[in-house]
Parts: sequence; structure tokens; C-alpha cells
Amino acid sequence: MWRTYFENIFNPARLKVKAMQKEMSKKYWRNLPEASLIPDPIAEADKAAKAMIARMPTTPAPQHAKVQAKQWPKRQPAEELEDDGASTISELGEVAKGCRRCPLWRDATQTVFGEGPDNAKVVFVGEQPGDQEDLTGKPFVGPAGKVFDAILDDAGVDRLKVYVTNAVKHFKFEPRGKRRIHSKPNAGEVQACRWWLDREFALIKPNLAVALGATAALSLLGKAIPVTKMRGQVIEREDGLRVFITIHPSFILRIHEPADKEAERERFLKDMKQVKKLMAA
Ligand code: URA
Repeated sequence: MWRTYFENIFNPARLKVKAMQKEMSKKYWRNLPEASLIPDPIAEADKAAKAMIARMPTTPAPQHAKVQAKQWPKRQPAEELEDDGASTISELGEVAKGCRRCPLWRDATQTVFGEGPDNAKVVFVGEQPGDQEDLTGKPFVGPAGKVFDAILDDAGVDRLKVYVTNAVKHFKFEPRGKRRIHSKPNAGEVQACRWWLDREFALIKPNLAVALGATAALSLLGKAIPVTKMRGQVIEREDGLRVFITIHPSFILRIHEPADKEAERERFLKDMKQVKKLMAA
């Protein structure tokens, strides 16, 4: 029992080998029942201490805390109305500020609603806001958004004329030190947020939806589909909406090898040119 207890209370962050040896000289160690356990935790101490630091509870970075202090009081709970009374996207966005349909609102700074004209011909759907989107309240303004903007531009699609939104409207993350690491929304969160996506489509009535990645496809089609296999295809929903399948632009960001990155960028550009043609059809 003592050995088990000793193993579990060993704190690698407080390891001081010299002090241990001073307290109890090494020649007595052979009499200690726990002595044979000591070398392993000492050898692992550095790695274990780093893992503990990575798991440490965190506080937001000072600039995050400032933005949150400003935004959080605005998050009045939205009543779960079947008829929210909104007849424009901007009215709907106001109602969505108080969304509590799933628990993600608690840690996020604000709801990041869709952006673009009410009469857009195409709606692009991403996964969920990232760190920068959470702080600014706007979709696709961070690193993935910059890649997306540049490729849309190359394809001759004006971002100001299209509607851009996400399957999930709150940032889901895990705190790691001062950083907030993106965490994939689960099927329940996607389903809860589908309410807003359906309302956006009902108001805009686009003739095309573009699913940027698997989470968007899941939300738009109600089932998981193999995106890399089906990219470039159009699936027609029962309500007649055409859904174009492609990858999420962050996929391009994650490729390190320059030639592969460029090839993937070209493939995405080809998809966006296809979208431009479908928008007009
Ligand atoms: N990724 C998304 O899916 N949406 C954003 O708004 C930003 C990054």
C-alpha cells in the first residue's frame, strides 16, 4: 500500500535529487520499501513535469480577457422560440447572440454569426469559428480565412457578394497555456446549431451551398460523407438545395511540403472556379 501511495504522490515538478540524498543518505535507501521505485519517476520527471504544465488550468491572455469583458454582458439568453420573429439576417444575428442551444456559449467570447448579403446566390459553410473569429465576432478572418479569401479572389468570386457562415457558431477550444487550441465540434453540437443554419438558408434562399469540409457536409446533409473522395461533386437535397462538396481551407494550411501545398491550393482553386459557374446556373 505504501509503495502504491508513494508512486501516486510523487510530484515530478518538485523533484530535488540532491535534497533527497541529503535528507536520507543513499546508503539507507536499501532499507526503504519505496527505494526501488525511485529511479523510474526520476528518469521520467522532466517529461512528466512538461505534461503537467501543458494540462495546467489557464487564464485568457490579457487581450482576450478585455474582449470577453466587453462581450459577455451582451449575451442575454435567447428564448427558445420556434418563431424568433427575425425577417433579416441582421435581426437573426441579434437573436443568435443569446444562443444557449448547446454548452459551447459558456467559454466562447461571442456568437460568430454568418456574414454577407441577404440575397446572396451562394452560402459557404465552414466548421466553426477559430480563435480570431471568436475575438472579432466575424467568420473566416483568421489564417484559414486569409487562404480562403485569396483563393476566392483568384477564382473571380467576390467575397462581399457571397454569404459565409459556419456549421457551429461558437468557438470550441481547449486551453493550453495562454493559447486556445481548436477542438472539433461533436455531432450533438452540430445538430443543436443546425437550427441557425436552417434559419439562415430560409432567409437567404441561395441557389447553392458549399460545404467546406466534413463538419459542414454533416450539418448540410445530415450524414457523414467522405469529403476527399466526393469533393467537386454536387449533392441535391430533398428540399432541392444543391450542396457542393469540397475541403476546408485550413487543410491547405496544415500541409508543410511546398509542392504538395501548392498542388492542394490549385485543387481548391479549381473547386472555387466550379462554384463560380454553379452560382450562375
Ligand atoms: N474555420 C472555420 O471553419 N470557420 C471560421 O470562421 C474560421 C476558421
